[in-house]
Amino acid sequence: MSSPVSVPAQSTTGAAPGGVEISDVTKYYGDATAVDRLSLSIRPGEFLSLLGPSGCGKTTTLRMIAGFEHPDAGDIRLSGRSVLGLPPHKREVNTVFQAYALFPHMTVAENVAYGLQQRRVPKAEQRARVAEALDMVQLRRFADRKPTQLSGGQQQRIALSRALINRPSVLLLDEPLAALDRQLREEMQLELKLLQARLGTTFVFVTHDQAEALSMSDRIAVMRAGRIEQLAAPADIYAEPASAYVAAFIGQQNFLHGTALGGDAVDTFAGAVHGRWGGEQSRPGATAVAAIRPEFVRLAPATASGVVDGPGVDGTVLGVSHLGETLQVAVDVGREQAFLVRIPAPGAPSVAAGDAVRCTWNPDDVRLFAGDGIPETSTHVIALPKEAA
Ligand SMILES: Nc1ncnc2c1ncn2[C@@H]1O[C@H](COP(=O)(O)OP(=O)(O)O)[C@@H](O)[C@H]1O
Ligand SMILES: [Mg+2]
Repeated sequence: MSSPVSVPAQSTTGAAPGGVEISDVTKYYGDATAVDRLSLSIRPGEFLSLLGPSGCGKTTTLRMIAGFEHPDAGDIRLSGRSVLGLPPHKREVNTVFQAYALFPHMTVAENVAYGLQQRRVPKAEQRARVAEALDMVQLRRFADRKPTQLSGGQQQRIALSRALINRPSVLLLDEPLAALDRQLREEMQLELKLLQARLGTTFVFVTHDQAEALSMSDRIAVMRAGRIEQLAAPADIYAEPASAYVAAFIGQQNFLHGTALGGDAVDTFAGAVHGRWGGEQSRPGATAVAAIRPEFVRLAPATASGVVDGPGVDGTVLGVSHLGETLQVAVDVGREQAFLVRIPAPGAPSVAAGDAVRCTWNPDDVRLFAGDGIPETSTHVIALPKEAA
């Protein structure tokens, strides 16, 4: 006797449910190109973040997946099938927005049931599915309250529950945590990640917050001017940024500007800085930059004789900030911007403003990039006060 074999749901093309294929998609608003020949393949069940500064095309990309906007060129496939001809409600996706717009006069349960009610789903089924959707976000006990009787984080969880009630294959989230205060935001990051892992739903998460993207994502797509600059796992994006733009956007960097030397070095004010090229190697003489993360810099006493041992730069400590587990030391190295050093707080050497120090590093920790692409508004380096510069 053979028992029936359960076959997982499959689309007509055989692709697994929940995959998103964006192929060469372009979207114009008048003369402006919001999304520029963007291609991206999102795996079923993946937590993928679109990360980039305001205006780089994140929301437009999400709205095209949802069906609220139509691409001017290219194709979008969900679970293996092109959805360009489908209105939003016929796509197996749901969206959670930053402004989650709950109905204040309805209870939590009524808010969550709203979509089902519109589609005249039978009352008994509505009740069962609302209970299930509220269980997903651990809010069942608040079913009969009004949204205003709940905290901001709980309200956002209701919005999530409302989006999940139809069990979409893909959930789109557009900066859903941006309105929450920091502590709540960090709690919700963990909660969202656990929920996503439990449900196995594909999450496409839009954020301009690099820490948020790093902490939650399986992969991050770093966007720049309507295109993807790099697509990789958080650890790889952090360790091996593909461009100066990505290096500046993720984490902190000390940038030493200069010109490319032949081989693995850039000529800077600190002399020839050796490292490894991220992206394409610049030809000798071209503008280039060496990037060193503050946590990879070590502090040593200043060299008295001028005879130095290994790569580094001398300077004077401007100030020390306590960041919890690390100390951040700003060093005046005679440039427009301070050199930043991060050292673990436990057992840190005593260091104070005015100390003469030498900042040293290991060439393995230095990345070299072609000279363009550092955002002008980068907040990852601090400017020196006028009198110190
Ligand atoms: N409805 C619209 N009309 C005109 N321009 C728009 C519209 N929506 C977005 N844009 C423009 O398209 C670009 C990308 O916007 P958006 O996708 O909202 O970026 P992000 O979400 O990354 O901040 C921006 O330059 C923005 O001004
Ligand atoms: Mg946006």
